[in-house]
Amino acid sequence: MEIRLWREILNPYILAVDELIVKFGHIIKECRDAGIYSPIEQVTGRVKKISSILEKAQKKKINFEDIETELEDIAGIRIICQFVEDIDQVVEIIRNRQDMEIKRVKDYITHQKDSGYRSYHMIIYYNVETMTGKKRLQVEIQIRTLAMNFWSTIEHSLQYKYKGNMPPHVTERLLNASEAVQVLDQEMSAIRDDIMDAKNMLEIRAAIVADILNNIQNLYKTANKREVEKIQDEFYRVYETGNMETLEKFHRELDLISESYRAQEL
Ligand code: GTP
Ligand code: MG
Repeated sequence: MEIRLWREILNPYILAVDELIVKFGHIIKECRDAGIYSPIEQVTGRVKKISSILEKAQKKKINFEDIETELEDIAGIRIICQFVEDIDQVVEIIRNRQDMEIKRVKDYITHQKDSGYRSYHMIIYYNVETMTGKKRLQVEIQIRTLAMNFWSTIEHSLQYKYKGNMPPHVTERLLNASEAVQVLDQEMSAIRDDIMDAKNMLEIRAAIVADILNNIQNLYKTANKREVEKIQDEFYRVYETGNMETLEKFHRELDLISESYRAQEL
């Protein structure tokens, strides 16, 4: 078939992938702006290459006119999470969206593939608007942890290298590695709460420091310069102790001082 016709078929899929990358990417941004943890770490996507489409259609004995209905992964999105728990949250987000309709899911995390492959797959219907009107497409979304993604990437390269003839000792090593990935994900989940707490603490601390500096800067406009310098020195001293409680106490006291200066100003 002509390249031009392939373009016509594939263009809506390119649009779908572009849109979905923006939409999932925006979730990361929304979380960051709200100061909350994002269940999504990273989003990528691709449209299947013509050669791969043809190869798969041939392998699965799919007629040309059935390609778009039978091949569910012409458009593919990959969502990478830090923790296994995040995957459930991403699935929930997708379930609640009005612009994505779930056709089916394949849970290769609960039921890992014989290869050792683990990932959560969803096939969704997604509408795009083109010059010729609305088009409903299928998109495959793969959701996996950083660790699962590491394994899949390596395994995929090896599959490519051995072209279906992977030596048994490599297959076995990959299975071992897959088990190790599972243990790694479990261990990471166990310390997830600690990581979250630490991350939250850092964010709270950064916000307090920013507020203190802002207050000091404002004081320079109204208060006695010497006094502000004294406050600033005191802040450096408190900051260097690294003690959160002392920092919070200093923050409150500075707030009161600033407040009294503002009152005087009025
Ligand atoms: P494919 O013909 O591979 O697309 O299989 P399928 O259409 O029956 O769907 P399946 O859910 O098995 O796989 C969909 C996609 O998941 C594949 O295209 C790969 O991207 C990924 N995948 C599935 N199995 C494996 C695996 O064993 N190793 C790796 N690295 N990726 C896999
Ligand atoms: Mg596939």
